[in-house]
Amino acid sequence: MQVAADSLQLNSRSFASLPPPAPGTRSMPQSTARDRLIVALDTPSIEEAQRLVAALDETVSFYKVGLELLFSGGLDLARALKSNGKRVFLDMKLLDIGNTVERAVANASELGLDFLTVHGHDLKTLRAAVAGRGQSRLKLLAVTVLTNLTADDLRQQGSAMSPGDLVLARARMAHESGFDGVVASGQEAQRIREAVGPGFLVVTPGIRLPGSTTDDQERITTPESAIKGGADHIVVGRPITQADDPKAAAETFVHHIREALAALLRGAGNA
Ligand code: C5P
Repeated sequence: MQVAADSLQLNSRSFASLPPPAPGTRSMPQSTARDRLIVALDTPSIEEAQRLVAALDETVSFYKVGLELLFSGGLDLARALKSNGKRVFLDMKLLDIGNTVERAVANASELGLDFLTVHGHDLKTLRAAVAGRGQSRLKLLAVTVLTNLTADDLRQQGSAMSPGDLVLARARMAHESGFDGVVASGQEAQRIREAVGPGFLVVTPGIRLPGSTTDDQERITTPESAIKGGADHIVVGRPITQADDPKAAAETFVHHIREALAALLRGAGNA
């Protein structure tokens, strides 16, 4: 069964409007949890990405195409995924002079995809991206601080701020600029949500299950803590794409999201 892209639009507003669970209800409807999982198609070749998508089948409705795949046919795959009813997050992490960012975003808007990332370092870049997006339905996400960066890495970049404070400052800036949301670690999801309120997307990579390898990520969180902190979507790459059984691994993440949503709704119901 194909799922219409429009029926998958989810953000914190739609979550807030969900009814409380019936007494004894253990979990949310499957589609809600599934739509919050974004699988990062970080594969060396388009063929490998296609094999993954086929294996993940209906377990996954939302994919991220990033820099690795871009150089081996990623845009064609993004369009194909879209025409097969999937949602697509184009993770380009744009950063350039305003004129270039504006024109790049204007061209990207024509692709008909769902999310696009821009580095959220300064207002000039953010405003240029908003101008380039114009009236299109493309949602702009500002990358706050990469989840593989620590306070030491930020000092090398010339920033004395802690990762958490810098994420929050950049999230506020993105919000004021007319961006639709941010990419941030789950460690900061709650502070962002408290600062900007509902209706602003918080998308969190650096997701790992307890006890699993962290790879090159530093500021990791579990799916539960990201969702309970207010994240709308979690982005998961290697824990799914490099699993012996990617579909089973994706189902495990959906299960964790569903449990976190159910716990949140139980909390809301008791409030
Ligand atoms: O394999 P893993 O789950 O660590 O992949 C995380 C994905 O999220 C990668 O595609 C990476 O480029 C992306 N990402 C990130 N941290 C950010 C923004 C994007 O890890 N702040």
